[in-house]
Amino acid sequence: MPAIVLIGAQWGDEGKGKATDILAGQVQWVVRYQGGNNAGHTVVLPDGQDFALHLIPSGILTPGLRNVIGNGVVVDPGVLLDELSGLEARGVDTSNLMISADAHLIMPYHVAIDKVTERFLGKAKIGTTGRGIGPAYQDKVARVGVRVADVLDEKILRQKVEAALDLKNQMLVKVYNRRALDVDEVVDTVLQHGRRFAERIADTRLLLNKALENDETVLLEGSQGTLLDVDHGTYPFVTSSNPTAGGAAVGSGIGPNKITRVIGILKAYTTRVGSGPFPTELLDAMGEHLRKAGGEVGVTTGRPRRCGWFDAVIGRYAVRVNGITDFFLTKLDVLSGLENVPICVGYEVDGKRVDDMPMTQTDVHHALPVYEELPGWFEDLSACRTFDDLPANARAYVQRIEELTGAPVSAIGVGPGRDQTITRDV
Ligand code: GDP
Ligand code: IMO
Ligand code: MG
Repeated sequence: MPAIVLIGAQWGDEGKGKATDILAGQVQWVVRYQGGNNAGHTVVLPDGQDFALHLIPSGILTPGLRNVIGNGVVVDPGVLLDELSGLEARGVDTSNLMISADAHLIMPYHVAIDKVTERFLGKAKIGTTGRGIGPAYQDKVARVGVRVADVLDEKILRQKVEAALDLKNQMLVKVYNRRALDVDEVVDTVLQHGRRFAERIADTRLLLNKALENDETVLLEGSQGTLLDVDHGTYPFVTSSNPTAGGAAVGSGIGPNKITRVIGILKAYTTRVGSGPFPTELLDAMGEHLRKAGGEVGVTTGRPRRCGWFDAVIGRYAVRVNGITDFFLTKLDVLSGLENVPICVGYEVDGKRVDDMPMTQTDVHHALPVYEELPGWFEDLSACRTFDDLPANARAYVQRIEELTGAPVSAIGVGPGRDQTITRDV
């Protein structure tokens, strides 16, 4: 049985939480494979309750499903426990969550360093979520990280924290003029937290491979999006992991040949949080309209999201770098009420027309959108349940996106609710 990957096709916040929740009924496992609590995934249940998940897979809201935080994720132990108790307080059964022994921990010094480096960068800042994500991945790659399994061995944990703080305290104090962190305090806190999730620690790659051998279906839930990928995104304005589909195999420990479907979650317009280039960004009243109509405020940081028109160059690029088999097109309802809906079909870079993502970041920064105007629609879409229920111009908009990106749209979101979804055979 297959593994299905679900990824963000743009700069995150495309509606991955809702899409995971919809698919959860058809799978046995949901796995997070990268990122950490920089993510904010919203799920609205049929009874109207809404949940914001940061670190825990969105599958936790479907009873009976097994959920995994994979080796590719960075875990802040305090955040993990708070999120678990928040869910439990609302009656969610969390007993089916396992955490990879090999996932790296976000330590208090990572959060401190994330904040001070951003301040140090000034105008050149990335606009991170300030959750310690980048510094934790830096330590992973530098081979000085602390892993989940280390909470089970106090001696090793202390050695690692001592070695890390030897250097990091000098940096915090001498370069950034911050207070040094105390080894005992850090070790004690992590051990205390660790005791509370020790029984969830597992060799999750073994669990997942056995599940696949037993014909169970595994859904790999990406966080962030294609253009925030550290390799394929708008570097350096990216996150420090690989949200793209290839990252799903690495971050969960299954073979890439187990992945049979890659679903791209694609917003019917474009948003981004934080710094970096955004060719179709609208800095005028129309941008403000999309922000209001779409409720575009960050789930994790509360920052207003930057908004712009749909960009087919990004859609095509996402299809290529992820091997997208089909798209879930979200938030089509938000575009109701516009006379015309522009779609960016290509860029003009220094006077030359280009159809594909420019090779250099300089060119991405210089890219001006080339628009095609599509006629809009005024009907409220929130009650549409079949493709034929949509007004003709909304159908034409979807079909044009399929033509321009080269992948079929298998589902369309017309509201935040689980049932506010149109599915299509593609
Ligand atoms: P994620 O990070 O990709 O999971 O997305 P977020 O949860 O950060 O942002 C998506 C927002 O759009 C959430 O508030 C969702 O409830 C909402 N949403 C998802 N799909 C739709 C849709 O089709 N229509 C509307 N109006 N809202 C949607
Ligand atoms: P979901 O999963 C949107 C952005 C930050 C910043 C950059 C790097 O909800 O789609 P980081 O803290 O990761 O080092 O910040 O990435 N970013 C997101 N933007 N949605 C997210 O997650 C994001 N996670 C990180 O705003 O620009
Ligand atoms: Mg989000």
